Amino acid sequence: MAETFFLHGADYNPEQWMKLKDTVWPEDMRRAKEAGVNVLSVGIFSWAFLEPEDGVYDFSWLDEVMDMLHRNGLKAILATPSGSRPPWMAQKYPSVLRMDNERKPYVYGARHNACYSSPDFRRKVTEMNTRLAQRYGNHPALHMWHVSNEYNYDCHCPRCQKAFQEWLKQRYGTIDNLNDSWWNTFWSHRFSGFEQVESPTTPSFLGEWESPNHNLAWRRFCSDHLADFFLLECEPLRKYSPHIPVTANLMHTFPGIDYFELGRRMDTVSWDNYPRWKNDERDRDISAWTDFRHDLMRGTGGQKPFLMMESCPGAVNWDDVNTLPPPGTVLYQSLQAVAHGSDSVQYFQFRAGRGGSEQFHGSILPPDGSTDTRAFREVCDVAAALESIREVCGSVTRNPVALVYDWHVRWALDYAWTAHRFHQKYEETVQSHHAALQRAGYGVDIIDQTSDLSPYKAVIAPMVFLLREGFAERLTAFAREGGLVYLTYMSGYVDEEDLRFVTTPPLEALTGVRTDELDAWDKGRENCFLWQGREWPIHEVAQLCTLKGAEALAVYENQFYKGLPVLTRNPVGKGLCFTLQARVETGCLTAVLGGLLQEHGVEPLVKELPAGVTAAARYGADGTEYLFLQNANREAAVCALPDSWVRLDRTGTAGGEIRLDAFSIAVLKRG
Ligand code: GLA
Ligand code: ZN
Repeated sequence: MAETFFLHGADYNPEQWMKLKDTVWPEDMRRAKEAGVNVLSVGIFSWAFLEPEDGVYDFSWLDEVMDMLHRNGLKAILATPSGSRPPWMAQKYPSVLRMDNERKPYVYGARHNACYSSPDFRRKVTEMNTRLAQRYGNHPALHMWHVSNEYNYDCHCPRCQKAFQEWLKQRYGTIDNLNDSWWNTFWSHRFSGFEQVESPTTPSFLGEWESPNHNLAWRRFCSDHLADFFLLECEPLRKYSPHIPVTANLMHTFPGIDYFELGRRMDTVSWDNYPRWKNDERDRDISAWTDFRHDLMRGTGGQKPFLMMESCPGAVNWDDVNTLPPPGTVLYQSLQAVAHGSDSVQYFQFRAGRGGSEQFHGSILPPDGSTDTRAFREVCDVAAALESIREVCGSVTRNPVALVYDWHVRWALDYAWTAHRFHQKYEETVQSHHAALQRAGYGVDIIDQTSDLSPYKAVIAPMVFLLREGFAERLTAFAREGGLVYLTYMSGYVDEEDLRFVTTPPLEALTGVRTDELDAWDKGRENCFLWQGREWPIHEVAQLCTLKGAEALAVYENQFYKGLPVLTRNPVGKGLCFTLQARVETGCLTAVLGGLLQEHGVEPLVKELPAGVTAAARYGADGTEYLFLQNANREAAVCALPDSWVRLDRTGTAGGEIRLDAFSIAVLKRG
């Protein structure tokens, strides 16, 4: 959804201050204006105040809050309160409580732990959301619906078992088909009816925990079940306020949900960003991880602008060591979000509570409401910066390089009995490729295996272990039409059902390489290869393969691998497919990917960025190009640019050499 100005705001919990509302609420409104805040997210954990007893609703205080926001020129992002429930609900309707993998029922407490199959919970949520939508759907302050909070799901209660069995019936049709798809003849595990299939007890050994296929099916079910629950929550919202967009706040690579699937059900994707900055050279890597997460979250929303729903204007309180971000960090992390496609900068939270587990979490205001604080000043700086780059809001990204990250691959690798069994490093490997592409000056779109490949010139798909239906064919067609494809070790090992192939694996024709053996090493064991006059170390994983049409661009140098291909190139129609058969450092990937892409005519945003500096671009509806240069170094850097750029975030032009302050982001516009 295109915004005309950036949203700048925070989670706001005025009901925590109900007894002091006459002084605190008006002060909050004044402070919001002083801080340049224009949006507040309300109602996220308000169930106990909205429905203090079963069927007894009290919206009077929220009416007051919504009206107050409107009067003060603030927008409201209104949440559905399903993220946390009042104690009466668990007492009266115990089915709302989850059961864990060992079949132990939860007792009341904490949050984010409801059973989504519970008919009581589903009914209560529908009733609540209907009331909220009817009452506030046309409220002038209402800007967006915020559904629940940081959804997760893994419930093993009898109702969820039933739902799992129903889901399996839908997917497999017959129990015979399920048995074959899961290779259940192994260990005599063939089921004779769907009612015999239980959720895996993983990681506990109590019941089924070893079958990769069974585990994968459970993860898929949980993800689908949650996506359905999200739709249940949305139904009344969309019915009574079809003009109001719906979001849910995501958690980057959280393993429990296929966010691409969930993202497709939202109007706008939003996510909660909590990099734990260290104030030393580690911040470069932390910045690169954050870039990856922003790009991934944008990808789950189909590359449209997203919202950074939460971030911290100080130190978080839930880490083992809660390090204070040094001055300027809040501005950096805010502009970083914008650089990667966010149309908002929002924080957790507006005013810290006096108690509860988040009493010491960073916030715009401390409980006493004072503004003579560094956090407050930094939030004001962010407001000013967002105002100065206002025209960027609503612009989109348009990167020629797509990187594949797919939850189904991640799940399959989580249970794969091979290589580094408990840590295959899928997420780390994809992120390392992302970091390499950025170091080589590219902006990156992250997609899943079902995404449209046609907007891209290159598709980079590391460790694409499980092939979803049709992906190999679409990737091959993409190469034939002139695209560049890059794959690695541990690619195309299993089909959609997590079964190995009995015919030639589908990627073989594309890569021109037959995979023979997979080798995993512990620390200290290495190999290497030569590329562009340098020796590059290999560690952890290596594959032995035979050329079936491809040529070797580089070979292993040592041990019994010596002379075997490690980097390969295969012409496919008008395009090319490269493979890298072993795990290497990000620096090596930068050289390899940067080299291959440039050779193929895929140009980076900026050539030759200094170490620790990355670039990102957004494009306005009129074609205006905005360039963000991020200096993640804790010292200044100098970047060479062609002359035609002007700085948006401060006065003056920028041509030739642009000086980037320590840990800062420059926002430029093509002049
Ligand atoms: C999450 C939650 C918030 C809050 C913050 C604290 O992102 O959504 O409710 O707990 O973490 O960092
Ligand atoms: Zn359940």
